[in-house]
Amino acid sequence: MNIIEVDFATPEYDDTVRLRHKILRAPLNLDFSAEEMAKEFTDIHLAAYDLAWILRGCLVLTLKTDKVLKMRQVAVDLDAQKQGIGQAMVRKSEAIAKVRGFERMELNARDTAVPFYEKLGYHTEGGMFEEVSIPHFKMAKDL
Ligand SMILES: CC(C)(COP(=O)(O)OP(=O)(O)OC[C@H]1O[C@@H](n2cnc3c(N)ncnc32)[C@H](O)[C@@H]1OP(=O)(O)O)[C@@H](O)C(=O)NCCC(=O)NCCS
Repeated sequence: MNIIEVDFATPEYDDTVRLRHKILRAPLNLDFSAEEMAKEFTDIHLAAYDLAWILRGCLVLTLKTDKVLKMRQVAVDLDAQKQGIGQAMVRKSEAIAKVRGFERMELNARDTAVPFYEKLGYHTEGGMFEEVSIPHFKMAKDL
């Protein structure tokens, strides 16, 4: 698996948006707004490609402060889940964050994904809340 950073508004970025839509939004009957997309200009976009250079997973890192990154839109394609791709993308994100001087990673996890993040050392902060119509928990990890 090759996990690389892709630039905003490139064909590779467009592929990640399609995958995020398929895995995260379409099942909820939701779409991305133009405003939401425009804000991603300043984000870090990671893409996981298999050996045939097919996109299998992706995520987004948003700068919250000069010390804190927010991990968002973590998605692995349906037939590639539970093969270690999600874990590898989170680890790569943490490595990138540390090299760039960030000290903490935060995220809003769907309740179904909380155990996945706990295995990677993240802990919940506070109670359940609703986002995109489903239960979420705020989670964080000091890097
Ligand atoms: C959640 C998701 C990102 C995990 O990625 P993945 O590539 O499937 O997970 P991995 O194979 O790297 O799993 C790593 C470990 O977490 C476990 N795990 C993965 N998803 C899990 C889940 N939903 N519940 C419990 N454990 C989970 C795996 O079994 C594995 O455990 P192990 O190390 O003991 O074998 C992926 O399944 C996905 O895209 N799901 C749908 C979208 C989603 O929920 N995204 C997260 C939004 S916050």
